[in-house]
Amino acid sequence: MASSLLPKCSTTIFLSCFLFLLAAAVDAKLVHSQRVLRRPLKEKMSHLHFYFHDIVSGRNPTAVTVAVAKNSTSLTGFGDIVMIDDPLTDGPELSSKLVGRAQGLYASAGLQDLSLLMAVNYVFMEGKYNGSSLSILGRNMAMRPVREMAVVGGSGLFRMARGYAVARTHWFDANTGDATVEYNVYVVHY
Ligand SMILES: *[C@@H]1O[C@H](CO)[C@@H](O)[C@H](O)[C@H]1NC(C)=O
Ligand SMILES: *[C@@H]1O[C@H](CO)[C@@H](O)[C@H](O)[C@H]1NC(C)=O
Repeated sequence: MASSLLPKCSTTIFLSCFLFLLAAAVDAKLVHSQRVLRRPLKEKMSHLHFYFHDIVSGRNPTAVTVAVAKNSTSLTGFGDIVMIDDPLTDGPELSSKLVGRAQGLYASAGLQDLSLLMAVNYVFMEGKYNGSSLSILGRNMAMRPVREMAVVGGSGLFRMARGYAVARTHWFDANTGDATVEYNVYVVHY
């Protein structure tokens, strides 16, 4: 009886020992990576200035409506969703130097007022910023001259970015809906 129990016992003890050692190893690994992460990262603040061109008209629009609310009588186009791949330039003219693109979507989220939900990645292609992006998620009261949106993250040079974007309408064509918007973005990153 005792001899038949013994192997079972030692197997259990062995397993417990093994699991304990495994847990200790995993713990040590976590502590190790924590130590690496504790190295102080240098925080930087950047100011970016560019112009955003929302082209909805003509043969090559960069903003297209992909969804419209059924039977809507809303004056604000509530429920409409627009997908964009808008050029970003360093000057106010569309022909100025291309510095990036705004890729994402905006949707009409206000029943009473024109209030857009912006969910857009601003991807840069200039110099050291080439390939780095900022993610903006915010409320855009497009008819107001100035509005502010949150920068919620980023990639590349803008890893762990946070900040805000101030947008000012530079030009708006009420007939076509085309617009140029000046952006000043303030962002903290590593
Ligand atoms: C939308 O309008 C059409 C035609 O007037 C009607 O047949 C349909 O039921 C309406 N849909 C809704 C969701 O009200
Ligand atoms: C940006 O990077 C892409 C590939 O990663 C490259 O093709 C392009 O020439 C670069 N542009 C600039 C302006 O450096």
